[in-house]
Amino acid sequence: MALRHIGVLTSGGDCPGLNACVRAVVRSAGGAGVQVSGIRYGFRGIVDNDVIPLDDRSVSGIIQLGGTKLRTSRFLELHQPDVVRSTAEALDRLRLDGLIVIGGDGSQRAAVALSEHVRTPIVLVPKTIDNDVGGTDYAIGFDSAVNTAVEAIDKIRDTALSHERVFAVEVMGRGRGILASAVALASGAEVVCIPEVPLEPDAIASALMRCSKKGKCSSIIVVAEGCPGGANKLAEDLRNRVPFDVRVSVLGYMQRGGPPTAFDRILASELGTQAFDVLAAGTDRPVMVGRIRGEPVTHDLRDAIHIEPRSFKELRDLCHRLSGIWFGS
Ligand code: F6P
Repeated sequence: MALRHIGVLTSGGDCPGLNACVRAVVRSAGGAGVQVSGIRYGFRGIVDNDVIPLDDRSVSGIIQLGGTKLRTSRFLELHQPDVVRSTAEALDRLRLDGLIVIGGDGSQRAAVALSEHVRTPIVLVPKTIDNDVGGTDYAIGFDSAVNTAVEAIDKIRDTALSHERVFAVEVMGRGRGILASAVALASGAEVVCIPEVPLEPDAIASALMRCSKKGKCSSIIVVAEGCPGGANKLAEDLRNRVPFDVRVSVLGYMQRGGPPTAFDRILASELGTQAFDVLAAGTDRPVMVGRIRGEPVTHDLRDAIHIEPRSFKELRDLCHRLSGIWFGS
């Protein structure tokens, strides 16, 4: 069946690069004469019939903008069977020939649940600053968030060194320490704490003492927010164990905003276009698009939700080799 009309939505936590991806979907569809409806506020917009027409002009001047023109939401009820059914009925009423969902792991699961009840083919484009979606090496937004955090830590370094302090810097990442590991390596941090490895304040304190004996007078500890108690708890635990002034800086939501890096703009443009091409070629199964070792890949979305995200352990091993004292294994 020829593609005439598709929908696109952004779902879950926002991140830089969403607008660039929407632009790519709209422009590639426009080039093929396919009409695009933007669904606002993620999956919730399907139920609320909150839909706007998108054309080449309406996505002009947004490639460099953070946030999402389409707005987003976490529609947590979408794991309840009755909500899945009513959302599927609402999606059928939109009479779309395809739906592109730009989302993370929660949206991945929601898209699979929906796809069991609708004929509309769904294609998922991975985005999340946490980079914890399996089936792709990189999700849209991760590179921008890493750069934002690294830029902040470069500034914290200056004050850490001037006052000879230790800083525990908390970065986002509730479930996994991929973002923290990349930030730690790129900022030359001495220690990285991630949810996958139990926190051991005694060992971290001994490592900091060893550094000090070698003449190092300030250190940066990157802590993923998913570590129990986060940076505040770790700093508290360290203050009884080391003679240094230990300060905390929680970077928080600033990592989710700001203009996307060139890497994310390019990735978003590639994945958005690839998602449209999958629909244009015709598919009878839900699909996820991604990049593995730089090459485009597609997965059946029902399999993709079971693929473990890349661990990026090599980043932490490199921290160890180059800084010597990162903590964990
Ligand atoms: O999934 C991205 C993320 O920013 C996580 O790193 C963080 O734990 C979470 O979203 C915060 O979610 P919310 O926007 O719902 O507070």
